Amino acid sequence: MKTTILEAAYLPDVAELERLCFVHPWSEAALAHLLKEPHFGVVAVEEGRALAYAGLSVALDEGEITNVATHPQHRRLGLARAVLTALLSEAKARGLCRITLEVRVSNTAARELYASLGFTPCGTRKGFYSAPREDALILEKTIN
Ligand SMILES: CC(C)(COP(=O)(O)OP(=O)(O)OC[C@H]1O[C@@H](n2cnc3c(N)ncnc32)[C@H](O)[C@@H]1OP(=O)(O)O)[C@@H](O)C(=O)NCCC(=O)NCCS
Repeated sequence: MKTTILEAAYLPDVAELERLCFVHPWSEAALAHLLKEPHFGVVAVEEGRALAYAGLSVALDEGEITNVATHPQHRRLGLARAVLTALLSEAKARGLCRITLEVRVSNTAARELYASLGFTPCGTRKGFYSAPREDALILEKTIN
């Protein structure tokens, strides 16, 4: 397995990950946003196929993680941790100072993952998610 910056060739794989992992998946066209500077994404690739990804939307010196997803048949193997570690190191190299994200309050797997990488809670957004309606927890990490 290797991690690499998201390129156009991986968009079909990433769109498939979105469909497998989310009720409101990002389309390939929406994901193409991550190919345009200053935004970027990271994928974990095995035998030419992207099995996990994370995206970062950038504004000035801050980044917001758009989504993180691992193929359901390849979970608990460290892929999400690997893509987020690579994303954080790339963000640091690009001079970003702070990374934020939103996560469903009930999403224990993602919350454990982010906590293990040093993200801490800094707020909530009431009723942010639909299907099912749920609050979002806002997490942040300072990197530079
Ligand atoms: C959350 C998600 C990305 C984790 O992907 P993954 O590749 O399985 O995660 P990793 O193997 O890198 O796990 C890293 C750490 O995260 C935590 N974690 C991951 N899955 C977990 C679970 N089901 N329950 C509890 N903790 C979990 C653990 O701390 C784990 O470390 P450990 O395996 O050493 O205990 C994956 O479950 C997923 O795609 N879920 C659906 C999409 C989603 O909810 N994305 C997040 C949106 S904000």
